[in-house]
Amino acid sequence: MTTTTGVPTATRSVGTAHTRREGVAKVTGEARYAGEVPHAELAHGWVVLSTVARGRVLAVEDGPVRRMPGVIEVLHHQNAPRLQEGFAGTLGPDATALMLQHDRVPYAGWPVAVVVAETSEQAREAAEALVVRYETEPHDVGFSAEHPDRYTPESTVVGPATSEKGDVESELAASAAVVDERYTTPEQHHNAMEPHAAMARWDNGRLEVVDSSQGTFVTASDLAKLFSLDPASVRVRAEHVGGAFGAKGQMRAHLVLAVMATTVIGRPVRIALTRRQVFSLIGHRSPTAQRVRLGADADGRLRVLDHDSLSRTSRLDEFIEASANFGRSMYDADAHRTVNSVVPLDVPTPTFMRAPGEAPGSFALESAVDELAHKCGLDPIELRVRNEPAFGPVTGLPVEARGLLPCFREGARRFGWAGRDPRPGVRREGRWLLGTGTAGSGFFVGAFPSQAALTAEPDGTFTVRIAASDVGTGARTALTQVAADALAVEPDRVRVRIGDSDFGNAWLGGGSMGTRSWAWAVIVAARELREVLVPGADIPAEGITVRSDTTEQVASVAAREHHSHGAQFAEVAVDVGTGEVRVRRMLGIFSAGRIVNPLTARSQFVGGMIGGLSMALHEEAIRDRASGALTNPDFAGYHFAAHADVPEIEADWVDVPDPNDPVGIKGIGEIGIVGAAAAIANAIWHATGVRHRALPIRPDRVL
Ligand code: MOS
Repeated sequence: MTTTTGVPTATRSVGTAHTRREGVAKVTGEARYAGEVPHAELAHGWVVLSTVARGRVLAVEDGPVRRMPGVIEVLHHQNAPRLQEGFAGTLGPDATALMLQHDRVPYAGWPVAVVVAETSEQAREAAEALVVRYETEPHDVGFSAEHPDRYTPESTVVGPATSEKGDVESELAASAAVVDERYTTPEQHHNAMEPHAAMARWDNGRLEVVDSSQGTFVTASDLAKLFSLDPASVRVRAEHVGGAFGAKGQMRAHLVLAVMATTVIGRPVRIALTRRQVFSLIGHRSPTAQRVRLGADADGRLRVLDHDSLSRTSRLDEFIEASANFGRSMYDADAHRTVNSVVPLDVPTPTFMRAPGEAPGSFALESAVDELAHKCGLDPIELRVRNEPAFGPVTGLPVEARGLLPCFREGARRFGWAGRDPRPGVRREGRWLLGTGTAGSGFFVGAFPSQAALTAEPDGTFTVRIAASDVGTGARTALTQVAADALAVEPDRVRVRIGDSDFGNAWLGGGSMGTRSWAWAVIVAARELREVLVPGADIPAEGITVRSDTTEQVASVAAREHHSHGAQFAEVAVDVGTGEVRVRRMLGIFSAGRIVNPLTARSQFVGGMIGGLSMALHEEAIRDRASGALTNPDFAGYHFAAHADVPEIEADWVDVPDPNDPVGIKGIGEIGIVGAAAAIANAIWHATGVRHRALPIRPDRVL
């Protein structure tokens, strides 16, 4: 493993491997997740989901259920607390949060009631016995590129929906080699190991919540707004979170309903979703239908990059899976166009999931680039070398600390790419056809303002308080290392407390921006504390505390193209009799800025690559047109890569620190999955000679 080099002399901990601070607590069961936090007088809620995909609730017949053992309350649209109309959260308008406010049913699996009882079992039994009468209306869950309701919005939550430069049609006509293909990806679900759960209670006029959340401050602010409360009267904690992948960045049904229930019954209430409920209630990745057109001169130089992506949203909220964005930073072309369109259907609102946009977008574009390289008779890495931009292809901004080609160079060396026979379908080993493939990876990096408090304790230790969230990535450990270096002390003298909205504003553990945003706030606080501390002077019993807020620092970052990059490599074997694809090995080399903790960073990269393998070969949620519901909302029907599917996977990095960050961090949250599915699809083509442009590449499609 490459450890990070060029570390400033004062830095001792950043760049070295540390096991997770909370590792022992987690493996011994001492660490409590949101669904496990005990409380006296705890009542349990169970969510009732609509069985129709569109229509109205005519009646919730709660009378008989209220007489069942242990039942305390049944909430539905006629008796639930009122929420703020037209609610918009930190991440935008969120009509999905407005549950039990109206009789409309916008999709199958919409919450229509919550039953509260003394035990979880009693609540579940009553919820299953509850009769809800509906008036149904025709629904439409049929996603297709030709859908008449598709439209192109002005903007998405991650920027403009479109970009355009040059004349695509005339450049295409002038191109020596053209690729014009369509790619599809299916509905996918996050499936964090820990299903969503929350406990809510009122304590002396304060709403106290324990949630499984990527961002306690954001959740607390949004909750306060939704329930029209004073923000200072809402506290959200999330000490341990068992995975998120984007699904725990916003308030979800379990939390909203638990707050409603505790408000009505005056006792603490816990709601824990089942795996099947998670499939309905917490968002998913939309399917995509993409068209990529590439045109190049005979030497492979791009004249045209035209990427059009369609995704799907609900009729409640507009969420765009902005897959066309991927090409905006990867390759320049004389004519460069990206379009993200969407079609509203009677489905739940999708959300951010594992490299939103870039994951499906990179499957399409990096497959198309591979196709173009073959048409030009060029090695796919050489084609990328010839199209490396000096300026942001769409922004026109200077490109800084770009690591794409260093990743390909190092990856090619480590994988053994040199001398690869480019011909497809010619390597056979018994019943297996063998092939190798590669693809590029990229993801936007940035930082959001955050606040931290840092206390020098009288015993010579230091306490950091920041509303960061450790979703399993090792954030707590990385921040300990950052703080230790900034204070010039050993990490064991630093304790980092996270996951509490009372610690102030902090960005979510998401968007590949968590560690960078939080580390910045910790560093600013540490610098100030070192100025305040007088060497040799006694520290009072309450310690000496300084607070930071990075609003100014973050805003002052120069306008540059900032991305993490990577090069993905895969080797596959395809069974010519059954169509089974076995990935034999994967290698990912990433350029993600300064790596704080090689141990947890590697784990995160590898996790992303496994997500890419899963996306390439397995993951697919199937929505039944007749019922509007999923046919496979569980691990029996929705396969995520398991150990037996995961081959030798290696991840490493090249050292390209970000010059605009005090630690040099860029961000590694999402980059591991980007391009991984394309590398596998390209390897399958190299093995078999057949292009697969629809994911997942199931055995029945291979044959
Ligand atoms: Mo990630 S999809 O930003 O949690």
